[in-house]
Amino acid sequence: MAPVNVTVTGAAGQIGYALLFRIASGALLGPDTKVNLRLLEIPAAVKAAEGTAMELDDCAFPLLAGIEVTDDAKKAFDGANVALLVGARPRTKGMERGDLLEANGGIFKPQGEAINAGAASDIKVLVVGNPANTNALIAQQHAPDVPAGRFTAMTRLDHNRALSQLATKLGVTVEDIKKLTIWGNHSATQYPDVFHAEVNGKNAAELVNDEAWLADSFIPTVAKRGAAIIEARGASSAASAANAAIDHVHDWVLGTPAGDWTSMAIPSDGSYGVPEGIISSFPVTCADGEYSIVQGLEVNEFSRARIDASVAELVEERDAVKGLGLI
Ligand code: NAD
Ligand code: LMR
Repeated sequence: MAPVNVTVTGAAGQIGYALLFRIASGALLGPDTKVNLRLLEIPAAVKAAEGTAMELDDCAFPLLAGIEVTDDAKKAFDGANVALLVGARPRTKGMERGDLLEANGGIFKPQGEAINAGAASDIKVLVVGNPANTNALIAQQHAPDVPAGRFTAMTRLDHNRALSQLATKLGVTVEDIKKLTIWGNHSATQYPDVFHAEVNGKNAAELVNDEAWLADSFIPTVAKRGAAIIEARGASSAASAANAAIDHVHDWVLGTPAGDWTSMAIPSDGSYGVPEGIISSFPVTCADGEYSIVQGLEVNEFSRARIDASVAELVEERDAVKGLGLI
């Protein structure tokens, strides 16, 4: 089988450093699939990315068929089967939300165009760079020839954070928990939902039996975990973000385990009252390289209000980038 072309943007950044070695070791696509890595950076960071490429060579990974480093998006995405869009413009002091969206428009518009121009017909895109959901929407809107559903954004880190918090609360392992969901935006408005989650077959919300803990502790802890990591480390999450990116693509390509689902931000088809087209997190199962939204879940009042609030934020972000002429 020909190697799979995996393009990683922001390759010289901190997530890139935690991500590339795991991709090359087989964690992304399994132990039988060789990969070609394409590393895209801005000109000032190409040298650092080349240094990382030297280290990748020095690992002598049997699955790593080749590495290319470039600052040319067209080259980086040419023939790409998987694209991990990690590089983004971080918010700096004094920067308003509109400035951040505009700066990222300058990154994700040309990358969407380059994906449209040259990516392989089976391209799968994961956007990690923040604001991830809206950056994914910008890239998608500039790739009209690629099926819209191939553009996804990452809420798997939030999913994994929620698993860990719930496991600690209930004194179980993360493996004991199934069917947890992150709804909405990868932001502080996201909604981690345990009402359908099962712990060794029992309903998680009933086991918790404490709505105040859900509202005042669990949900804000998960939703603000990114900020708590920044506060503690002095830098945003990197290894856990890279790990979640691996999990997201691994499950999309190789499938979710039977009896479980995961969370992915994907273009809404209108399910659960989420306006069509916005890239919002849903419970999904994956099989044969395709994801599907888990249907038929009952959404209680507690959940409805929280899903609606996060979705409203996504609609605002979409309208803001529309207003800026970015989509
Ligand atoms: P970083 O600053 O260490 O690295 C970002 C890299 O992107 C830099 O090397 C920079 O040169 C590069 N870059 C900037 N513009 C680029 C472009 N146009 N093309 C290619 N590369 C470009 O940041 P990081 O810690 O690696 O984080 C990357 C992004 O991921 C940030 O936006 C961060 O907020 C986000 N993030 C998302 C999640 C999530 O769960 N969705 C979690 C953690 C971090
Ligand atoms: C995270 O969830 O860790 C990041 O999205 C935080 C950030 O702002 O980079």
